[in-house]
Amino acid sequence: MKLRFETSDGHIAMILIRFTSRVRRGVIAAAACLCAIVIPSGLDAETGAAAWLRYSALSPQSASSYQNLPGEVVVMSDGLVLRTAQQELVQGVFQMLSKTLRSAVASRLDGAIVLGTFSDLHTLAPDLRPPEKLGAEGYWLKSASIHQSKCLVITAATDRGVLYGVFALLSKIARSESLSSIDEVQQPYAPVRWVNQWDNLDGRIERGYGGPSIFFDDGKVRSDLSRAGQYARLLASIGINGCTINNVNAAPGILDDAFIAQVRRIADAFRPWGVRLSLSVDLSSPKASGGLDTFDPLDPQVAAWWRKKADEIYRRIPDFGGFVVKADSEGRLGPSSYGRTPADAANVIAHALKPHGGILFYRAFVYNHHLDWRNLKNDRAKAAYDNFHPLDGAFDDNVIIQIKNGPIDFQVREPVSPLFAGLHRTNEAIELQITQEYTGQQRHLCFLVPMWKEVLDFDMHIEGNAAPVKDIVAGRVFHRPTGGFIGVANVGMESNWLGSPLAMANLYGFGRLAWDPDLSSETIVDEWTRLTFGSDPLVIKTISAMQLSSWPVYESYTGPLGAGTLTNILGNHYDPAPESSEQNGWGQWHRADHQGIGMDRTVATGTGFIGQYPPEVQALYETLARCQDNLLLFFHHVRYTYILHSGKTVIQHVYDSHYDGADRTRDFISQWKMLEGHIDEERYRDILGRLECQAQEAVLWRDTMCNWIYRLSGIADNKGRVVIPALEKN
Ligand code: GCU
Repeated sequence: MKLRFETSDGHIAMILIRFTSRVRRGVIAAAACLCAIVIPSGLDAETGAAAWLRYSALSPQSASSYQNLPGEVVVMSDGLVLRTAQQELVQGVFQMLSKTLRSAVASRLDGAIVLGTFSDLHTLAPDLRPPEKLGAEGYWLKSASIHQSKCLVITAATDRGVLYGVFALLSKIARSESLSSIDEVQQPYAPVRWVNQWDNLDGRIERGYGGPSIFFDDGKVRSDLSRAGQYARLLASIGINGCTINNVNAAPGILDDAFIAQVRRIADAFRPWGVRLSLSVDLSSPKASGGLDTFDPLDPQVAAWWRKKADEIYRRIPDFGGFVVKADSEGRLGPSSYGRTPADAANVIAHALKPHGGILFYRAFVYNHHLDWRNLKNDRAKAAYDNFHPLDGAFDDNVIIQIKNGPIDFQVREPVSPLFAGLHRTNEAIELQITQEYTGQQRHLCFLVPMWKEVLDFDMHIEGNAAPVKDIVAGRVFHRPTGGFIGVANVGMESNWLGSPLAMANLYGFGRLAWDPDLSSETIVDEWTRLTFGSDPLVIKTISAMQLSSWPVYESYTGPLGAGTLTNILGNHYDPAPESSEQNGWGQWHRADHQGIGMDRTVATGTGFIGQYPPEVQALYETLARCQDNLLLFFHHVRYTYILHSGKTVIQHVYDSHYDGADRTRDFISQWKMLEGHIDEERYRDILGRLECQAQEAVLWRDTMCNWIYRLSGIADNKGRVVIPALEKN
């Protein structure tokens, strides 16, 4: 039971009275607990809106270990981002520790939490030497003695670095980590840590499952942009420094001067959090909406058009981040219309952005979706490498090639894109998908961090040296000036952003990996769970275990052995529909027939895709003897009776995997039910409903897939579970 009222200082107070009853060994134990929570005005109780920034009050015991936290805050200069950092610190400390940090003057650093850049600090505390090689966005948390008095310094080369330091400090307090003698330096792995939103100007979001756009409505920028500001705060708290606000399938109208004037308001909402705004643009804009009769990238009029457009944008948005381009892909116009290359197209725009420090992201997701499916040598997976590898070295220094993690399209399991190893003289960024397009659309639990870790840690073996993908995209392997990590987020107006409270672990995890890809999945999920649900050990253990097993479970009933997510690719990308992959030009083929299944992508007999990898990687996949089971059908066409490394036949693995996966979704429900009474009712019920829906749909997936493969192969399940009446009669 909940009682809600407003306190005299404008906060909402909530009294929760919880009656719990349990039956233990026949004895009914009843308990009632009473607690009061003070919620900052504007935030509702556990709607998920606060995400991992709940700053809920610590228990008296945990709070007591912060008794020595200074009671004052000194801010060394008056920058916008620094002021945001101060406000966040004051709010967080107040909510978690009921302690009001007083503002103190910059001439007195002793006994205070000090926020400022190295240069601000230097004159007052010359002995505090910043750690060497701390780059622009890293930070240093240091418990120090200044003038014989204890203080806590949060410093960095830039105000944005200080803001990241403040968020890190608050996260530590929220997770009851000790701050005594803290001396911690953190540095982001790569300069580019961006999210993309696929928002349309009419307010719908392509592949978005968290409600309508927080930026646009009915062809205009929303009048109330408070959610945009809150989103920037969430992004900044995990170190994300850029956000592209509109769909990669861009409407040319986004670049109209009148629209830019509206977009400027979104940039204003982002700025206090150090998040740069960028736009997806349609390459044909000079012609489609710009009044020219061409968009040929080599036409001087077109170059002048992009220059004028960039100048106009930077006049209104001085910290504008740049443009994202999707061209010659899925029906979008591109340089091929004029016989030009992606490098010609990228460079003309990059040139216009260059004087302002802007970046041009050119997406490598370029492929022909009218491939002839009858030709067994055709292979969509080869497209990115075929299109971009020959252009290595031809792109300007402020161009980044944005490469999806795998060669197809965010399937439940794919090998890494060979293009990561194919560009030595070109900047790269990896594009990961946070929104669960092919991975259950936020209705199924699927924590993607373990998948992303596999990709980021995958060793491409460049010229005999270790070269994990994370190092390549960070520019470390080929010594590139820039590069990094991009996540397609697609948050929406629903209070909990992604539509599902548990899915928010993917947004959090993306940001944490972009900052430090060496973090383990276990660490990330533990941090996220504590920040999102509190410190009850049962809650942490249960949610972490569920999240960590969720990707393999989802894979087991939607696309085991590397066949792809066998969903309805011509429709919603959600329901089971294995036939939809075949006999069309989209190229998400699995080549299942009466004898066998899988795409032969070998050099020896198949499409030759494997030949796009460096030799050491080719050796992992080219032979059946070495190829791992979970990618077998991505790389090889085999008979249903082929024996896997596990000792099972392919067909029996398919049956077992689907039955096992469906059973495990039921286990999620029983695991979750153990948390009743341990977390708030709102999120408990919401998540329970989603898990129940997932379990039902996993059965649908299981039956659809098993029946389909039984009909095709005619080989029965050796456990007798798959029964199709028509087949039995024969
Ligand atoms: C997927 C997705 C599209 C999206 C495309 C892209 O194919 O289904 O909606 O436009 O990826 O990444 O460009």
